[in-house]
Amino acid sequence: MSERLEDIAQAMVAPGKGILAADESGGTIKKRFDSIRVESTDDSRRDYRHMLFTSKSAMRNNVSGVILFDETIRQKAPNGTPLVDIIKSAGSIPGIKVDAGAKDMAGHPGEKITEGLDGLRERLKEYHKLGARFAKWRAVIDIADGLPTWGCVKANAHALARYAALCQEQRIVPIVEPEVMMDGQVASHGIDRCAEVTEWVLNTVFAELYDARVNLEGMVLKPNMVIAGQNARRKAKPEQVAEKTVRCLKATVPASVPGIAFLSGGQSDIEATHHLSLMNAMGPLPWNLTFSYGRALQAAALKSWGGKPGNVAKAQKSFTHRARMNGLASQGKWTKAKEKRAA
Ligand code: 13P
Repeated sequence: MSERLEDIAQAMVAPGKGILAADESGGTIKKRFDSIRVESTDDSRRDYRHMLFTSKSAMRNNVSGVILFDETIRQKAPNGTPLVDIIKSAGSIPGIKVDAGAKDMAGHPGEKITEGLDGLRERLKEYHKLGARFAKWRAVIDIADGLPTWGCVKANAHALARYAALCQEQRIVPIVEPEVMMDGQVASHGIDRCAEVTEWVLNTVFAELYDARVNLEGMVLKPNMVIAGQNARRKAKPEQVAEKTVRCLKATVPASVPGIAFLSGGQSDIEATHHLSLMNAMGPLPWNLTFSYGRALQAAALKSWGGKPGNVAKAQKSFTHRARMNGLASQGKWTKAKEKRAA
């Protein structure tokens, strides 16, 4: 496998493939496990993720890369094989979440700034040794009355750019993730407000990336789709989400960026797949559009698994199905009929 940033970035967004976001932090994975009444321990987290990474056909055919949490990149399967090696032997690329989380932003009530730049160069060096070839940093922007503020947008974009430059210095492809949330504190905004804020945020992020001298050919953008807040009075139609998202991206994302891998952000499994497929069917587009889903790839598998070793095969089947449907969506080939037939 080539070590050039541009080649790694291309491989991450190869047609038919996308990224599995399995980098839930301790608090988030506990929430997911609470929903299936499984205790979150080192071993249960390891067993769950091992189940995902050993889903052979999903990993080989539809998962270009996996975003890991610090704990997972150091974990081994019960037989002693590092989980990173399992991912690599399936032909998938290990990645790592490197931000230290979104914290309350001083002087900006209701807004967050993502931390983690101090000591990042040294951490990236170690992660490269452990096998990571790409990284992720997530900024969160909430929409509410009078929010976001320029101070919050600018500070988060600046941090993303400094992170991306450090990654590339250490031969790691940065996933740049500015998430305009659909499930924030209020989340009652309509789709047009999301379009306006997303355009503002992406423009600011690309200005900062330019100033930080980031090589756009060696990065992947991970944005939200342009979509109404989950408490909005009116939900947008799938065609509207697709049309407004592509329009927003065309206005803000340079064609030198090889690929855009969306987060699911609270959409249902089917919605996230449907939206992605509609956008790809609108092609030709300047970049590859694919998925980097957490919840929308894992929800069904998590439920089927339920913490029981006897359910591993069933859970892998659920995961493989979801990965395959999203692989089709990344080529604009998903249909409701295929979803049903396969299920
Ligand atoms: P969701 O797809 O569940 O939003 O998670 C993706 C992710 O990595 C958020 O940082």
